[in-house]
Amino acid sequence: MNKFICPSILAADFKHLEKDILETVNGGADIIHCDIMDGQFVPNISFGPEIVSMVNQITNLPLDVHLMINNPENFIDKFVKAGADYISVHFENNFHLNRVINQIKDSGIKAGVVINPATNVNSLEEIISHVDFVLIMSVNPGFGGQKFISNTYQKIIKLKNLINEFNPGCLIEIDGGVGKENIKSLSDACVNMFVCGASIFKSGNISKTTSELKKLIS
Ligand code: DX5
Ligand code: ZN
Repeated sequence: MNKFICPSILAADFKHLEKDILETVNGGADIIHCDIMDGQFVPNISFGPEIVSMVNQITNLPLDVHLMINNPENFIDKFVKAGADYISVHFENNFHLNRVINQIKDSGIKAGVVINPATNVNSLEEIISHVDFVLIMSVNPGFGGQKFISNTYQKIIKLKNLINEFNPGCLIEIDGGVGKENIKSLSDACVNMFVCGASIFKSGNISKTTSELKKLIS
């Protein structure tokens, strides 16, 4: 069906990471989203390949590693070894985007490019035919639990047009402020991968919320 619920473990309770992840698996999660922050490209620090490797031991689900770091080319191998199935890098801090996208694909996994809220979708015209997915940030990266930025819908429409023209197989991922109130309309707007942090892990019932979100996109 090409519609995937991707819980973002940034919002999980790290004291009980295994339990929280397994609850999303019970609820029907499709892909686990791992947010990597370096305190340079974004104003926050999260975790590195060791934690991704632990997540890989907790579940067989594919891992989607979102790199919010400078010089991502220096870390691709480490995250591939840790078990990443998808790796995305940002457009904004990459002088050699084409090279790093090829580096990810040459590792045998799926490669994505990410754009921040203020980055124009049309900037992707030269890279779109080289990627497996595009991640549109619907909040400014760095923190979970922020409010969805509403002009993201226009960006999704523009992106869908670009995809139809240059790379029809390319998937659309959305990240930030996604929950029960907007996931259905995002799905109707052709989004394929839905990153959900706070809406799942802070809901009070991780498994039930995951399955409710999944129903809304089915
Ligand atoms: C933000 C991260 C997101 C974040 C989303 O920089 O890329 O993946 O965890 O969290 P929510 O769903 O809480 O907005
Ligand atoms: Zn993310």
